[in-house]
Amino acid sequence: MVSLKATVVRPETLPTGLYRAPPVDIGIGCLRLKPAHGDYPGLRRMCGGRPSEGVPVTVDGGVTGQTPGGDGVVAHEVWRRFGAVEALRGVNFTAAYGEVTGMVGPNGAGKTTLFLVLATLLAHDSGQVWVGGFDPAHHAGAVRDQMGWVPDAFGFYDNLTAREYLTFAGAAYGLGRAAKDRAEELIGVARLKEFSDQPVHVLSRGQKQRLGFVRALVHSPRVLLLDEPAAGLDPYSRVELRALVRQLASDGAAVVVSSHVLSDLEQMADRVVFFDRGVTVGERRIDDAVRVSGPRVWRVWALNAADLVAALDRHGYVHTPPTALGVDVELDSDVAAAGLIAGLVHDGVQVVSCAPLTSTLEATYLQLTGEQA
Ligand SMILES: Nc1ncnc2c1ncn2[C@@H]1O[C@H](COP(=O)(O)OP(=O)(O)O)[C@@H](O)[C@H]1O
Ligand SMILES: [Mg+2]
Repeated sequence: MVSLKATVVRPETLPTGLYRAPPVDIGIGCLRLKPAHGDYPGLRRMCGGRPSEGVPVTVDGGVTGQTPGGDGVVAHEVWRRFGAVEALRGVNFTAAYGEVTGMVGPNGAGKTTLFLVLATLLAHDSGQVWVGGFDPAHHAGAVRDQMGWVPDAFGFYDNLTAREYLTFAGAAYGLGRAAKDRAEELIGVARLKEFSDQPVHVLSRGQKQRLGFVRALVHSPRVLLLDEPAAGLDPYSRVELRALVRQLASDGAAVVVSSHVLSDLEQMADRVVFFDRGVTVGERRIDDAVRVSGPRVWRVWALNAADLVAALDRHGYVHTPPTALGVDVELDSDVAAAGLIAGLVHDGVQVVSCAPLTSTLEATYLQLTGEQA
């Protein structure tokens, strides 16, 4: 059994993402709340419960944590170079409380670099950054009190059991005696009850991922930073993750989540910010992205492929040869797609499905990055 005395833990002894014990107010209040919320017992108000949104936090002799616009995260013209590599070249980014903000961009776009800056683990060269109302470079402690960080690669104490690991994390954040109850609560959220007495190293990758995720919730952060949290998860766990993330945002947290799996973000985020080669190239609210109507490839599938092809040729549509998956047609807009379906049905073609080949988010991303190229 390990010692859980948080006061003796020094920051440099902790694995990445586990921080020194914060000085005050660790959000124990949420532990008093009764579990049982939908499919996720104990989830209700795990985040965002402290201090309430809009209530300024004060540190270091009176510096008050207020972010411009009242958002959870703000980055303004942020630059970061690694030698000759310009990882961030003027990033502008915001994430509001109560919302899930997606970060979309190809590998190397600068997402992890921005996360590291927000998580107080990397200093930016220039620009301004606020997380929970504080500048991570100057008030790292105040930021860490309010921020939970799920890195893209976890560091665990492999010989601790899952329960010990979470209890240790709670103690490191100053939960004291409440750390054990909090660990139990989070084990339930992560569905790790039957593995809770196993050493962490025997857990599967997905189980470790879930453990790392709930570890970030141990101090009820108001700002949650998730770097590719769906990587390595099975389909069921992905669905669960999406629901969990949505719940945390509706409980008031500002959740930032990166992914290059756009369909995941489409179902999880309220808003997405697009990254490309170190710059933010645009943003869309998901509702708007879904309504975006531009040129896209649509896949049409009918009971009889020959009838479908004949009708498409008759109406002058350019299309691919039929395959087992259907026929692809490039159309200018959603209105054109509606016209195509109506025309095929009118001609007696038994259309089974007609859907865009790329998601709306993907189409928006390709359009935005194309504009930059
Ligand atoms: N410590 C580092 N030293 C040198 N280059 C780095 C370092 N960290 C990141 N980079 C570079 O910065 C760019 C952005 O990387 P990263 O932020 O990891 O992108 P993403 O998370 O979007 O895939 C890449 O070109 C990467 O090689
Ligand atoms: Mg990354």
